Amino acid sequence: MKIITSPKEIYQLARSWKLKGQRVAVVPTMGCLHEGHLSLMRIGAKHCDRVIVTLFVNPLQFGPNEDLDAYPKQLQLDCDLAEKELVDVVFAPENEAMYSPSFQTEIQVKRLSQGMCAGDRPTHFAGVTTVVTKLFNLTIPDVAVFGMKDFQQLTIIRQLVQDLNFPIEILGGPIIREPDGLAMSSRNKYLTGEGRQRALCLYNSIQAGRKIVAESSGTEISSEIIIEQAKNIVRAAGAKLEYAVVVHEESLQDEKTVTPASVLALAARIDNTVRLIDNSKLVS
Ligand code: PAJ
Repeated sequence: MKIITSPKEIYQLARSWKLKGQRVAVVPTMGCLHEGHLSLMRIGAKHCDRVIVTLFVNPLQFGPNEDLDAYPKQLQLDCDLAEKELVDVVFAPENEAMYSPSFQTEIQVKRLSQGMCAGDRPTHFAGVTTVVTKLFNLTIPDVAVFGMKDFQQLTIIRQLVQDLNFPIEILGGPIIREPDGLAMSSRNKYLTGEGRQRALCLYNSIQAGRKIVAESSGTEISSEIIIEQAKNIVRAAGAKLEYAVVVHEESLQDEKTVTPASVLALAARIDNTVRLIDNSKLVS
C-alpha cells in the first residue's frame, strides 16, 4: 500500500487508474481509524477496483474552541489498518499542502448546513464541504463512501454532489456500534470510565424512541414525545444535551409526527467536554 502526501501525486495516480478504465472509490477520514471507518473501506472495495483513503484532520471544520490540536493522531497504526483492508493508497497531506497561505475559497451547502450540529458548530459544515470538494478534485472518484453516523454531513454531501454536478456516486455506510450500542467514534477515546457509561444515553434514547414507535401499532406518534423522552434519558445520565430532533431524512426539516422517513438525531456533551452524536430511523 502506498502512502502519498502530495496532492499532485495523488491526482496523477487516480488519473492513471481512470485512464486504464478502473473504478476508483474514496473514503475521506480524519484518521484515528476504527471499525466504522474500516467498514466504509470494505464498501468502497466492493464497488470499485481501487480504494483511496484520505487521512486529514481538516482545520477548516474546527471552531476556535474545539479539539483541533487534541484530535487523536496515529498515522502509522492507521496505515497498517488500511493496508489490511486492501486499500491501494492512503493520502495523508500536510496542512500546508492543502491550504496555501493565499487560500480563500469556501464551498457551502447553505440550508442543510444550518441547525442540528451547526447550532453548536456554525462554521463546521462549510469546512467539511470545502475540504471534501478538494478531496473529490484530487482523487476524481467514481464512488465516495461516508458513514450514516454523521447523518447531517452525509445529507449535505449528497446535495453538494448534486448541486456541483460531481459525477460521483455517494454511498452511505451503516453505523458501526460497540457491543453495548455506543456508536464508534474517534472521540470515544476521550471518555473516562464513567463517561463511557454515560455516553450510552445517546443509544438508549434511540432505542426508547424506536420502542414507542414499534409499540404504537400504527397510531400517529408526536415527535415531541420522542424528543422529550430523549431529553429525560440524557439528563438522567448526567450528560448535556445539545440537540434532539426528529427530521425528514432528506430535507432535514423538523417532522411534527413520526413518518417512515423520520430520523431521530441527537448530540450530547459527556463530562462537559466530549461531544458525541448518534441517529437512527424511527420506523423499522
Ligand atoms: P471522520 O470523523 O474521521 O469520519 C470519517 C467517516 O467515517 C465519515 O463518513 C463518518 O461518518 C464515518 N464514521 C465515523 N464513525 C462511524 C461509525 N461508527 N460507523 C460508520 N461510519 C462511521 O467525518 C469526517 O471524518 C470528516 O468530516 C471528513 C468527511 C473526513 C471531512 O474532513
